[in-house]
Amino acid sequence: MDFKLSEEHIMIRNAARNFAQNELKPGVIERDENQQFPTKQVKQMGQLGFLGMMVDPKYGGSGLDAVSYVIAMEEISKVDASASVVMSVNNSLVCWGLETYGTEEQKQKYLVPLAKGDIIGAFCLSEPEAGSDATSQKTTAIEKEDHYLLNGTKNWITNGNTASVYIVIAQTDKEKGHKGINAFIVEKEMEGFIVGPKENKLGIRGSDTHSLMFTNVKVPKENRIGDDGFGFKFAMKTLAGGRIGIASQALGIASGAYELALKYSKERKSFGKEISKHQAIAFKLADMATQIEAARHLCMKAAWDKDQGNNYDLSSAMAKLFAAEMAMQVTIEAVQIHGGYGFVKEYHVERLMRDAKITQIYEGTSEIQKIVISRSVLGK
Ligand code: CAA
Repeated sequence: MDFKLSEEHIMIRNAARNFAQNELKPGVIERDENQQFPTKQVKQMGQLGFLGMMVDPKYGGSGLDAVSYVIAMEEISKVDASASVVMSVNNSLVCWGLETYGTEEQKQKYLVPLAKGDIIGAFCLSEPEAGSDATSQKTTAIEKEDHYLLNGTKNWITNGNTASVYIVIAQTDKEKGHKGINAFIVEKEMEGFIVGPKENKLGIRGSDTHSLMFTNVKVPKENRIGDDGFGFKFAMKTLAGGRIGIASQALGIASGAYELALKYSKERKSFGKEISKHQAIAFKLADMATQIEAARHLCMKAAWDKDQGNNYDLSSAMAKLFAAEMAMQVTIEAVQIHGGYGFVKEYHVERLMRDAKITQIYEGTSEIQKIVISRSVLGK
C-alpha cells in the first residue's frame, strides 16, 4: 500500500492551489455577499482542464484519474465552495454520465464542449416532492413519434441559469415504477423551458441555484440516455460519483477552515501566550486535523475504487457521510477558535461554516448515505 502522491498528483495539487489562491480568493467574500456567480473563474477552470478532469482527451477532457479529481476539488473548495460545486456537478453529474452511457453523437455534440468548459451542464433530479425519494418523479416525459413531451418542475438545480445543457430525469411510465424513469439531454433553448427565480441561500451563495419549469418541451428521441427505463439506475450510478466530488468538497471546506484556525491560533495571544499554547485550543486543533485526515482517506479510497473499476457505491457514500458531518463540526470549531473575529466576514471561516451545511444535504442527505451504507452492511 502506497500513500504517497505521484509527481503528477502533486503537480495537479499545486496547479489547483495556485489557481484557488490567486484567482478565486480575491473577491470571494464579495461574491458570497452579492450572490455573484464566478463567471470569469469558471471560464479559467475550463481552460485549466478542471471542468472535464476525468474525460478522455478525445472528447475534450484532461484524461486524469479520480484521485486527481479529489485533490483538485479539495484545493478549490478550501477557498471557494461556490466555484467547486460548479466543478463537481459538471465533472461528476454531467460529463461522467454522458461519457459512460451517451451515444457517440451525444458525446460529440454535448460532452466535448462540456468537458472543455465551453459550456456548463446541470443535473436535474430533485423536485418539489422528490428530493430523497428519487423514484417518485412527477416530471413526465410522454413518448410521441420522434420526441418525448416533457412537463414538470425541478428544484434546487445547481448551475440552474448558467448551464446550457441539462440532464433531466423524468417518468415515462408510472406503472413501471423505477423502471419507468428515463434521463434526457435538454437544451436551454428548447421551447417551453423556463428558468425560475434564483434561490437566496445560506451558503455556496456564489453558485446559482434555480427551479426549472418544463411545459410541453419537445425533447428529440435521440436525446434519451441509455435504453428505455435506464434513467433511475443512470441517476444512482451518476450520484455515486457525484458523492466523491461532494465528499472532496466537504474535505476542502474543512481543511480550509482548519488552516485558517491553525494560523490564527499561532498569532492571537490571550492570557500572555499564543492561544495555540492553551490546551483547550491545541486539543481542538488535534481533533480537527485527525478528522480531516480520516475524511481524506475515505475520499481517496472511494476515488481509488473508481479508478480500479471496483464498485464504489459504498465507499462513496461513506466518504460523503463522514466528510460532510466532519466539515460541519470542523468549521464550527474554526469559528470558535477565531472567537469574535470568526463571526465576521473578513476572516472567511463563517462563510466556510455556512458552506459546509449544504454538503450534509445535496447529492443525498447524510440520512440517505446511511440508507445506502446500512443496506450494504446488512446485505440487502
Ligand atoms: N447503481 C445501480 N443501480 C442502483 C443503484 C446504484 N448505485 N442504487 C439503486 N439501484 C437500483 C436498484 O438495484 C434497483 O433496481 P432493481 O429493482 O432492478 O434491483 C433500483 O435501482 C431501485 O433501487 P432501490 O429500491 O434501492 O430504490 P429506492 O427508491 O429505495 O431509493 C435511494 C434508493 C438510495 C434512497 C435513492 O433514492 C437515493 O439515492 N436518493 C437520493 C437522491 C439524491 O441524491 N438526490 C440529490 C439530488 S442531486 C443533487 O443534489 C445535485 C446538485 O445539484 C449538487
